[in-house]
Amino acid sequence: MRTIHEIAPLMFQKEQQLIEEKIKGYCTANDLALADLKWQAIPFAGEWGLATSFFQTAANEAKLGKGSKLPVPQKAQEIANQVAAQMGSVDGISRIEAVKGYLNVYFKTSDYAKRVVDEVLKSKNNFGRGEKKTETVMVEYAQPNTHHSFHIGHARNTILGEALARLVEFAGYETIRASYPGDLGLGVITVMWIYEKFYKGQEPEGVHERGQWLAKLYVEATALLEKKENETPEETAQREAYDAERREMYRKWDVGDEAVRNLWHVTREWSLEELRDVLRMLDVQMDVWFYESEVDEPSKLIVEELVQKNIADDERPQGGAVIVKIDEKLGLTKEKYRTNVILRRDGTTLYLTKDLALAKEKFEKYHVDRSIYVVDVRQSLHLQQAFAILKLWGFPQAEKCYHLGYGFVSLPEGAMSARRGRVVLFKDVYDEAVKRALSVEAEKSADIPAEEREEIATQIGLGALVYSMLSVDNNKDIVFDINEALSFDGRTGPYIQNAYVRANSILKKSKVEGRKSDNLQPAVFDYELTKHEIELIELISQFPQKVQQAAEEYRPLVMASYAYDLANTFHSFYHAVNVMQTEDEKIKNARLQLVSAAKQTIENALRLLDIQSPDVM
Ligand code: ARG
Repeated sequence: MRTIHEIAPLMFQKEQQLIEEKIKGYCTANDLALADLKWQAIPFAGEWGLATSFFQTAANEAKLGKGSKLPVPQKAQEIANQVAAQMGSVDGISRIEAVKGYLNVYFKTSDYAKRVVDEVLKSKNNFGRGEKKTETVMVEYAQPNTHHSFHIGHARNTILGEALARLVEFAGYETIRASYPGDLGLGVITVMWIYEKFYKGQEPEGVHERGQWLAKLYVEATALLEKKENETPEETAQREAYDAERREMYRKWDVGDEAVRNLWHVTREWSLEELRDVLRMLDVQMDVWFYESEVDEPSKLIVEELVQKNIADDERPQGGAVIVKIDEKLGLTKEKYRTNVILRRDGTTLYLTKDLALAKEKFEKYHVDRSIYVVDVRQSLHLQQAFAILKLWGFPQAEKCYHLGYGFVSLPEGAMSARRGRVVLFKDVYDEAVKRALSVEAEKSADIPAEEREEIATQIGLGALVYSMLSVDNNKDIVFDINEALSFDGRTGPYIQNAYVRANSILKKSKVEGRKSDNLQPAVFDYELTKHEIELIELISQFPQKVQQAAEEYRPLVMASYAYDLANTFHSFYHAVNVMQTEDEKIKNARLQLVSAAKQTIENALRLLDIQSPDVM
């Protein structure tokens, strides 16, 4: 994870660069060891500005024992003073001052406001898009195990991953979206076993029903195969017989038995169809599909290589497994990654083994520079172990793998459990969300045609759901309360969408009055701006930087909070400033432009969060 230092609005980069050049010129001429320049925005207090400090440079000088023996703060101020004195005039800058070791650069308010608004209206959907970067980033997410149903925890994963992918992409990186469903293992075989035994030939209708049915079979099978308390000898015998059948099926799968492989293909497809439909509902387009089953074989080759290189210990001759003593090999004295089996005695691979092959595939086949894994925080140790083994192996990009963990989603009544069938299905929550949004719409917006209303309700219901997943820090657990998630007040998706709708309605009204809102006169902000206008302009100007920050820090929450702040500021503006009633035509025009810029920025922010902006609601 990288942190962003420059938090100054990006549209003033030109001025920033000009000034930086002058500073560098001054420092070279005077033999000063200039530190990296970091810029900060100066919040509005009569005017907007940017600031950069000379403390680090002063400290560098002191360390080198150069120049006057002034204490660092005074030295910083001295440099700032001299830099300011020889700066001369810079286009677009109204005033430059040296204060407490900082160089403060101010803009003329009307220029600044105009620059911000013009930039948004010129760039439209691309407002905030970062410069193209050379790195390719892969984001892996939406990778549930097959033969299970898609629950609300998977939804958190998918939404977080998609928002991150959108942010990274918009920030300027080449972005590859990847999924990695777990499509083999005992859980999968368990479902196949019970299907074959008791349900062969059956198949519910409907993509989601079928996917969910597999999850029910899993619960049922688990109950049959699990050791119970006070079992009678007959029950024990029965259970053991079932388990033997399951193991036999697993063996057959391993050796590629045609019938078992066919059954596997068919049932796996049921799960994947459901997954693909969920992704469609969430507007997620995967670029690459990896499957655990496909990296199984390649991962065995890696095991061989690790043994040859003496990184793994082959204890098979002694009746053991192939293991990697990670801590020991890394020379760690404290337990950190522990010792791990990478090949069982019977020659089968583990989840960990397959992750080694997956990483290789990602970097070598797709030429990615960075690889982000959006995975439940409970798998943190697992991924750290995989990355550590990659490092031992000498895999060049081991350091370029990053785990973005997220807390789990529990219910008010406790943890979810796929084994017990206690899960909240995403599809159920989705349906409920849309239903509730529709009933609110039916009351509030009866004038909207029914079909359109349905589409809007989907956008709102989904917006509520998605935002409730993104507005919590990824490290925190979520206790998923459907009522709270779907409440439309406070920090919610619909609250933000409503700001967009209000902006849109003002612009529509202005059109009604004969203005073409997308073709307004150039805005002139040379009047006394109200506090609400200032706040709005300031927030809009921060958007490009928020995009960079969220992408560099892998934190969609940065954008989720920003979207809320922007909406909140717009709602206040909307209540305080009556745009359509503004008498002065020039001011009214400027305000309409500002509304249009706000609308565009809200839309861009929501889009990065995978939330749509309905025109009306
Ligand atoms: N399929 C796994 C699960 O549902 C998540 C996969 C995580 N990705 C990885 N490369 N291990 O738990």
